[in-house]
Amino acid sequence: HSEVSRVKNLDKLQMGKHEVETWYFSPYPVEYAHLPVLYICEFCLLYYPSFTQLKRHRSKCTLLHPPGNEIYRYDDISFFEIDGRRQRTWCRNLCLISKCFLDHKTLYYDVDPFMYYCMTIKDEFGCHLIGYFSKEKESPEGYNVACILTLPQHQRKGYGRLLIEFSYELSKVEGKLGSPEKPLSDLGLLGYRAYWQEKIVELLLNSDDEISLEEIAQKTAITHGDIMHTCQALQMIKYYKGGHIIHLTDAVLEQHRKTMSKNRRSINPAALKWKPPV
Ligand code: COA
Ligand code: NA
Repeated sequence: HSEVSRVKNLDKLQMGKHEVETWYFSPYPVEYAHLPVLYICEFCLLYYPSFTQLKRHRSKCTLLHPPGNEIYRYDDISFFEIDGRRQRTWCRNLCLISKCFLDHKTLYYDVDPFMYYCMTIKDEFGCHLIGYFSKEKESPEGYNVACILTLPQHQRKGYGRLLIEFSYELSKVEGKLGSPEKPLSDLGLLGYRAYWQEKIVELLLNSDDEISLEEIAQKTAITHGDIMHTCQALQMIKYYKGGHIIHLTDAVLEQHRKTMSKNRRSINPAALKWKPPV
């Protein structure tokens, strides 16, 4: 693969009915690097230099959802599990799209070691990709997410939170605690902090007795480190009689009330039909 340079190349991607500005360089083949718009088939993720070529492709393309197994369906939201080794082209094309919005990760041409969990929303035309996260098949560090992305046209609507919640539901099924791969981008950190805070506060509010760090970890699959960092950042750790306790502050409670009033979607664990891949 020849790359022109590592400066941002393409200006725009067109996916389905959305046209979005790219943020960062992505190593599409050189002959596509200087196009004003790259036209992407929203289902098979192949890319074309003109709308005419995309249209010709669309008249033949039969895919109406991501490849792989649908492991979750609730309301109009589905998750498809895709093995990078079995769907190399599709996953590489997904990585090319996501690199447009990620600065710090090296792009994995080597998609084989990863599973891809792709979230879609369904309408009469098909299951449209909203976002995804990748996950190493084996993670010695205990990471439950490698890369995570909400397509820009769908950001700030609570879908990132759904992706994160889903990643922890998988960890619960595995009986493991999980944490996203470091370093996280600024946006990744904002998304995770918001999620960790919400889950911890929810547990504290719903328990009559004192709740230990261990118990929070077991119930949420969030690692001790991520729980401690979240609580420290929110000044929720108090030293008391030689130990430390986690306590809610008025500021945190107020923020929690605001978050809850947004009434966003959640994952319904009963709709997950999944066993860890062997
Ligand atoms: N500014 C401030 N806070 C933000 C934010 C932003 N631009 N984006 C997310 N957050 C925080 C907010 O607290 C938000 O809750 P709110 O909207 O109720 O205030 C919370 O995160 C959840 O937001 P949500 O709408 O669920 O996230 P999202 O669908 O926009 O996705 C990412 C979040 C990180 C997946 C998305 O920004 C993304 O794909 N970024 C590019 C790729 C990337 O950096 N990935 C992470 C590193 S691998
Ligand atoms: Na995670």
